[in-house]
Amino acid sequence: MLEGRLVRLRALEPSDVERAYTWVNDREVTQFLLLRYPMSRTQEEKYLAEAAEQGNAYAGVRLAMETKDGLHIGMCGLHHTSPENRHASLGIMVGDKSYWSNGYGSDAVMTLLRFAFEEMNLNRVELGVFEFNERAIACYLKCGFVEEGRRREHYFQEGRYWDIIDMSVLRREFEAPQQNRVQAETASLEA
Ligand SMILES: CC(C)(COP(=O)(O)OP(=O)(O)OC[C@H]1O[C@@H](n2cnc3c(N)ncnc32)[C@H](O)[C@@H]1OP(=O)(O)O)[C@@H](O)C(=O)NCCC(=O)NCCS
Repeated sequence: MLEGRLVRLRALEPSDVERAYTWVNDREVTQFLLLRYPMSRTQEEKYLAEAAEQGNAYAGVRLAMETKDGLHIGMCGLHHTSPENRHASLGIMVGDKSYWSNGYGSDAVMTLLRFAFEEMNLNRVELGVFEFNERAIACYLKCGFVEEGRRREHYFQEGRYWDIIDMSVLRREFEAPQQNRVQAETASLEA
């Protein structure tokens, strides 16, 4: 399990189906995801069974996000991992809306980034976010992602096209603030 400050990231289980099925059919949640069509319970069961059976590996990391009390509130993962280029795409969904804007998503992203850079030895983590998803953009900026471009009018939803903002964070950028913090602490000890 990956321990964050607020969340614990664990492998997905078939028994996660009830909550996951609700989230992937909640339009308030899926409006922010590449999930346009309603999902059947069979599809969700199959997805979870496959994830549980295949397990987590370099090629794909799919995790459940829990509070420290063990409440399943979402899912996240690293996909499309390239061993040659050492990069992957990050995906996240806090499906339980009552947990939005309380730091759980940022903590999960930071926990996943730590795992990506310090355990999987990745060099770059990237993602795409809809231009109207202000909460997610704020979350990613807080976690050190920078905007690197826009796929203009890439996604059609609610009768109009929207840009997808491409963001990424490099390992050295992720490590830099921590290094700086360590350096600042050392400097204050020496002073
Ligand atoms: C995006 C998501 C992962 C973020 O997780 P979260 O726990 O809600 O976010 P956090 O609380 O860690 O950070 C969000 C920040 O955005 C801020 N915020 C919230 N609404 C905002 C808005 N409309 N505009 C700007 N900032 C906003 C919050 O105040 C918070 O900043 P703060 O900590 O400085 O106060 C989560 O909301 C989610 O899964 N949403 C639905 C699915 C989704 O959008 N997935 C991502 C697809 S790219």
